[in-house]
Amino acid sequence: MTGLLALLEAGGSPWPAPLEHHQEIGSTSDRLKELARAGAPEWTVVTADAQTAGRGRQGKAWISPPGNLHLSVLLRPATSPNLLPLLAGVAVREALASFGIEGRLKWPNDVLLGERKLAGLLAESSSGPQGTEWVVLGIGVNVDPGGAKPGDVAPEAGPLAGRLPEQAITLREATGRALAPEAVAAEVLRQVALWYHRAAAGRAADVLAAWHEAAVPWWGQPVEVLSGGRVMQGVAVGIDREGALLLRVGDGRVVPVVAGEVSRLRLAATERTE
Ligand code: BTN
Repeated sequence: MTGLLALLEAGGSPWPAPLEHHQEIGSTSDRLKELARAGAPEWTVVTADAQTAGRGRQGKAWISPPGNLHLSVLLRPATSPNLLPLLAGVAVREALASFGIEGRLKWPNDVLLGERKLAGLLAESSSGPQGTEWVVLGIGVNVDPGGAKPGDVAPEAGPLAGRLPEQAITLREATGRALAPEAVAAEVLRQVALWYHRAAAGRAADVLAAWHEAAVPWWGQPVEVLSGGRVMQGVAVGIDREGALLLRVGDGRVVPVVAGEVSRLRLAATERTE
């Protein structure tokens, strides 16, 4: 990632904080958390060519071969961090659009192409008496892992452990072009900064509108959510101002589902009798 700083500068946005790159590391997010605890400034970035202990949501592993993008960026938001995962999704989607890829967002924070996963986001935070101290936003994009397996959330055990997935897709496959992870990183960072400043300037509604517009077209459809080991069914009607998924359940109430506990969201199988 030696070229990342230069790419950011060439794009007119000199980066305001240190960028640390590793050829190989356990997890860029774990490293950035250490830096955050030691007082690193907002916008500090850690990237790695490969991760040996990459983490996805819900404690799953994230397969992280060289050629993919593994990036974590430190934020110190003055207000509620609840929208940051959605904001990051919008930013990654916009970044990919600049390479000609029209990804779709799947709540809470997957970027899909068709039904296959192109990128994943993991927001982790720490708060103290004054509120949120830091948020580490971890972003993994399947760019061009060459002969290696594409990155995605892999099962921890069982016959599929460490393998991947049909359900992953890479930018290489999607565009037919060889892209450098640093080119994608520069665009992702630019877009995260742009949307973050927009939200901080009182335009959080723009984030929600952009997210809603780029979402998989599931609005009005019956979905099934696995949350905290419990299956919930309802019709997806939208997202609220805090980024929760709104479900219309059987008795007509609309209930918010918060992302933290959710391990699966999918369209519900529907039966029709005619
Ligand atoms: C998911 O879809 O479950 C989230 C995947 C997040 C992966 C990224 S790669 C960079 C950062 N470091 C990690 O260990 N995880 C995130």
